[in-house]
Amino acid sequence: MSVTAAGAVGAALDRVEGRAKVTGEARYAYEYRHDEVAYAVIVPSTIAKGAVRSVDATAALALPGVHEVLWHGNAPRLHEVSDGELEVFQSDRVAYRGQIVAAVVADSYETARQAERLVRVEYAPEPHDVLLRADHPDLYTPEKVNPNYPAVSTDGDFDDAFANAPVVVDCTYETPAEHNNPMEPHAALAVWHEDGGVTLYDSNQGVVNVKNTVARAFGLEPDQVRVISPHVGGGFGSKGTPRPHVIVAIMAAQALGRPVKLAVTRQQMFAVTGYRTPTIQRMRLGADRDGRLIAICHDAIVQSSTIREFAEQAAVPSRMMYAAPNRRTTHRLARLDVPTPSWMRAPGETPGMYALESAMDELAIACGIDPIELRVRNDPEVDPESGHPFSTRNLVACLREGAERFGWPARDPTPGVRWDGRWLVGTGVAASTYPARWRPSSARASYEPGERHTYVVQIAAADIGTGARTALTQIAADALEAPVEQVEVQIGDSSLPPAFLAGGSMGNSSWGAAVVKACRELRARRAEEGDETPLSVEVDTEDEVAAATAEPLSKHGFGAQFVEARVDVDTGEVRIPRALGVFAVGRVINPKTARSQLIGGMTMGIGMALHEESLIDLEFGDYLNHDLAGYHVPTNADIEDVEAVWLDEDDPHINPMGAKGIGEIGIVGTAAAVGNAIYHATGIRVRELPIGPSRLISALPRGNR
Ligand code: MOS
Repeated sequence: MSVTAAGAVGAALDRVEGRAKVTGEARYAYEYRHDEVAYAVIVPSTIAKGAVRSVDATAALALPGVHEVLWHGNAPRLHEVSDGELEVFQSDRVAYRGQIVAAVVADSYETARQAERLVRVEYAPEPHDVLLRADHPDLYTPEKVNPNYPAVSTDGDFDDAFANAPVVVDCTYETPAEHNNPMEPHAALAVWHEDGGVTLYDSNQGVVNVKNTVARAFGLEPDQVRVISPHVGGGFGSKGTPRPHVIVAIMAAQALGRPVKLAVTRQQMFAVTGYRTPTIQRMRLGADRDGRLIAICHDAIVQSSTIREFAEQAAVPSRMMYAAPNRRTTHRLARLDVPTPSWMRAPGETPGMYALESAMDELAIACGIDPIELRVRNDPEVDPESGHPFSTRNLVACLREGAERFGWPARDPTPGVRWDGRWLVGTGVAASTYPARWRPSSARASYEPGERHTYVVQIAAADIGTGARTALTQIAADALEAPVEQVEVQIGDSSLPPAFLAGGSMGNSSWGAAVVKACRELRARRAEEGDETPLSVEVDTEDEVAAATAEPLSKHGFGAQFVEARVDVDTGEVRIPRALGVFAVGRVINPKTARSQLIGGMTMGIGMALHEESLIDLEFGDYLNHDLAGYHVPTNADIEDVEAVWLDEDDPHINPMGAKGIGEIGIVGTAAAVGNAIYHATGIRVRELPIGPSRLISALPRGNR
């Protein structure tokens, strides 16, 4: 699709790397070729807690083609590691089942896998504890929750206000552990060079982060490490920080003096590449009879491992979402013998808004008020937490627009009365929110007379399947006042100007701002120097980000999710024939890739509501259903009509593009909308996810269709 100059932003441009991807020309980490490459396979711990007493590699090393078995008894010491997950082979301790205790390196992958089974690991096991419980004796309040919020907030007097509220809701919601499962598993190819540097072809969400972490771990200067990741097949947060296999690949390559490839298998991903913590969330809402909130309390319980404190900020969205003079939020954490949880799409908001938006539905029913009207009545004038005005807050407009499009006004609120054969039918609504932030990044823009791509824009950004490369091409074209065909954007290489990672829905905001600045400066220089002079400018956005962050404004995207649910009363099967998301996310750079992000998030939310659940095995202490046969994500057959639309929203305070992040807001609120629709269909309120047949079947009515 051709786009005229200065009109690229807002156009539904096809992905610039689309052809390379569908023809197989686009290379992913494990596909890079290298002479003399060797293959590493990790040996996972078979105990959940204790020590590795010894590793007997004799039988493994006796196989032809096996070169090395690494473990804590022979591995080199790492320099500086701040993430306990990365301290691979640094001690005899085992912190969770599946943790890497050894690695086999061989000439072929097949040989390495065979040898992995011949490695004899002797353990000194200790009793383990892997179950999160609301009455766990070790629960504590962390100092901060992610990324840097106070763990507890209080305003007014919640206890007194709640005790005197005419209408109250007091419910506990539980969400299970969930695993990210990007289509491309984590993989790395490590190549050491004669000058003592290392090149890493790696699947990640940010090359700069990986480069700096690797440099510190191996005692290298940052510029001795180069990370190359032009194409990444999804991450959803699990590739936001380097994972232990990266350390293993680099160590193995060093030990062998050969390039080493290491792919984490799907099964191993359930232990070593992160997951969403299970949550137990008590919600208390107190309101007057016409639904005006008087008191909100959100108490979240989450887990972490013994080797790293990861404190998911599940109660944080309840601080800014609705007006109530008395509010309290708390987080408590248990450190268990489990893998360390990590980021999974909209960490914090996803489980937290499930609880809040389910409780709001329960409050609407308790007050006899339409759930949309309840949210409208409690829409705050200013951010209740900071007291700052919102830069833009169009939640009410999203709810109204969605109600209109979805056919909400005709809805009869009575639950459990709409039959279609043996199906009960209902609809539900929930709100979405996600912070709109950005971080300093740098970018270089160059002009070369006579080149096919007249302009080259370089930034160490990541496209994890989001369409970031395409969006940045559009942003650059407009800032240069050039057609998109003349602009080539280069990303995914740590030798490019350093930039923030693809996380927290901050990628495009952070990178786009740097690209705009570089391109505008280049255009100004070109005006002075004329067409014949090659030019290059490099900028960073430290000052701009500092100024934007200091503004006394609360900046968030908002949305409203509408879902229709059908429940088969004989089997408990739930179908979602319709889902509609209406979002207010500032300016949309590319409607085609934006829609994909939003409906992708909503689809993941439907998976969370109905399918996704990592089951911990109490006896052995690991996640049992550790593959896509046992861990269910939605297939095409599960997803019917899912649509996302957005309002025209102009927010000049967000960043130079006026665009709020869209990678995560799509999942926020979806699961609550599904649960609310299931309640409306059946009259059954399930407060534990996922809402599968086993949680519905015994409560469903019989024979009254
Ligand atoms: Mo996103 S879970 O912040 O990568």
